[in-house]
Amino acid sequence: MTFNRRHLLGLEGLTKEEISYILDTAESFKEVLSRPIPKVPTLRGKTIVNLFFEDSTRTRISFELAQKRLSADTVNFSASTSSVKKGETLRDTARNIEAMKIDMVVMRHASAGAPYFLTQCVEASIINAGDGQHEHPTQALLDLMTLRDKFKDLSGLKVVIVGDIAHSRVARSNIYGLQAMGAKVGLCGPATFMPYEAEQWGTEIFYNLDEAIEWADVLNVLRIQLERQQKSLFSTLREYHNLFGVTRERLERAKKEITILHPGPINRGVEIESELADSDSALILAQVTNGVAARMAVMYLLSGFKTTENF
Ligand code: CP
Repeated sequence: MTFNRRHLLGLEGLTKEEISYILDTAESFKEVLSRPIPKVPTLRGKTIVNLFFEDSTRTRISFELAQKRLSADTVNFSASTSSVKKGETLRDTARNIEAMKIDMVVMRHASAGAPYFLTQCVEASIINAGDGQHEHPTQALLDLMTLRDKFKDLSGLKVVIVGDIAHSRVARSNIYGLQAMGAKVGLCGPATFMPYEAEQWGTEIFYNLDEAIEWADVLNVLRIQLERQQKSLFSTLREYHNLFGVTRERLERAKKEITILHPGPINRGVEIESELADSDSALILAQVTNGVAARMAVMYLLSGFKTTENF
């Protein structure tokens, strides 16, 4: 198949075939990353800017590493050290990017829709690296890749996303991606963390973590995103942990194997017990490893290449 998209703003609307094609391509790049010299000339001559208006550890490093592995020229922009601090608008920042003949922009922004806005201002391909509460498509792709590595076929797999669903772009991208791949999705958290649109997504909804665990094959555990909350939506972290913290004791009670994902950053002892996060049930570092390959695949495919041969 060919991949005829110019931007990756979200997983909403992507077909199973498109997502499978990205994941298959990512697996080929994973093989490249295992070579003694884990680098290919695929994007030589292309210039990519990483435009981060919000903090990031995993996504920014992962994109930068993926770009180096593809031999692209990269430029890093961080809002905290840029002219944004002097009042420059997003549109003016975009026009400067255009003037510098950048081929691709990886953008993280606190406002939902900011990457879409950029597509209206510049010719470059835009990749959403997380926009407000909207989507974080490459995170969901690496999550799907990690699950596919373990379970092979995602159809019928029961994945519960636990925690602060309402403020989570990871949750939205995972819901769209998992459902496209035929998985069954559940959401679990306190009512104050459940978005009003949750019932329209066709997911199971749980307000009791033990019931969610009973149903699930996989838990994708989210942190509480305090930076996006205007008012207090839970009483104390201790109470939240008691009700919705994922622990080994809870999993043992279910008497079945449950796989744990977490997009990071982890708040140990809040949404997940520290020892569980480091246990064999947790694929958290496999997710991070897959992130580089998944992002290589996205950048390669958006660059207009049509085959996965001859890396
Ligand atoms: N998962 C994720 O987006 O992590 P960062 O915020 O560190 O990029």
